[in-house]
Amino acid sequence: MTDGGKVLWTGATLATFAAERDWGLVADGALLVEGGVLRWVGPAAQLPSGLREGIGEVHELGGALVTPGLIDCHTHLVYGGERSAEFELRLQGATYEEIARAGGGIRSTVAATRAASEAALHALAVPRARALMAEGLTTLEVKSGYGLSLEDEAKCLRVARQLADLGLTVRTTCLGAHALPPEFEGRQDAYVDAVCGWLPELKRQGLVDAVDAFCERIAFTPAQTRRVFEAARAAGLPVKLHAEQLSDQGGAALAAGFDALSCDHLEWLSDEGVAAMARAGTVAVLLPGAFYFLRETKLPPVQALRDAGVPIALATDHNPGSSPGLSLLLMLNMACTFFRMTPEEALRGLTVNAARALGLPDRGRLAEGLRADFCIWDAAHPRELAYWFGRNPLRQTVVAGRPRD
Ligand code: NIG
Ligand code: FE
Repeated sequence: MTDGGKVLWTGATLATFAAERDWGLVADGALLVEGGVLRWVGPAAQLPSGLREGIGEVHELGGALVTPGLIDCHTHLVYGGERSAEFELRLQGATYEEIARAGGGIRSTVAATRAASEAALHALAVPRARALMAEGLTTLEVKSGYGLSLEDEAKCLRVARQLADLGLTVRTTCLGAHALPPEFEGRQDAYVDAVCGWLPELKRQGLVDAVDAFCERIAFTPAQTRRVFEAARAAGLPVKLHAEQLSDQGGAALAAGFDALSCDHLEWLSDEGVAAMARAGTVAVLLPGAFYFLRETKLPPVQALRDAGVPIALATDHNPGSSPGLSLLLMLNMACTFFRMTPEEALRGLTVNAARALGLPDRGRLAEGLRADFCIWDAAHPRELAYWFGRNPLRQTVVAGRPRD
């Protein structure tokens, strides 16, 4: 088959997410792929005869389920070391915040990441990415934020970009304003200045698609976050924010004022924050893995987000401190059990709305003209993907029209 040839995938139940509010189910559906793009999507019996001509390859799916490829729009996948000792400390009663204030937490991962070579970080990141791919990942966002110097942040972002060779789209985000590195102790504003200065350089090197910050009482203030966002805007980069994870800092409203692509975590999000996000069209990225692993009890305001029409995405937040998990399917299940999202909302959160959180309008649904990134599952109905946990019904992943693996 030549790359541009027509390929038909047929005999499937399609969860297209073509409309705003439901699965967009198509029984006995077909996808016609040409040049890595979906050329036609619909009931197989309705495929126009003109399009049937020149089909070089046909895959009969025998009633399998097809969904858009899964998108993890918030990870910290590139880092050295691990933090299981901190997990034990928390089980003995220490809190995440106490560990962070005592110099552990993010800072201990920074030390391990700085000490690791680019090759070593890559070797650590590949199996993590592969674990996500085993459950249908086709697009991955990776944040820096464990280097905290221009050289170490660039090193991590280069490693992230290399993961695209595995058969993924990778989007990279600079999270220099994640924690204060030890050499800047007592000089938080000077560090923020440094981070602002890195952005044009990282952009020039083609290493960054967006800018994030951690706006929290153990991290950066709203005023410092604003300065990072102003620098991002000056560099022509969109912003995202770790907002209202442990307390309400008004971060979401601040980010919405910069037309943020997304605000993430949001357990402590206020009504004002919801309204500001709705006005700006900012996506709410909920992170059930961190909620679970930190044993949070304050739920993100899912009903208020729904009522305001804020799109809700989900992600793993994979990182060694607050969410050392690598299962997208588990995130679906947790979003339903913890956050009372419907299975349809949850899967929309790993497809359509995750694409939106990354500013990628060319994917996330099964529709004509979009990238042919899709997953084939041994399931009769898409709600099963959120129902099982610890069971992976993935049969095949297709990326830009080509079967992967
Ligand atoms: O998304 N909230 C801040 N950053 C990460 C945790 C990072 C860490 O503990 O290493 C998060 O939860
Ligand atoms: Fe995070």
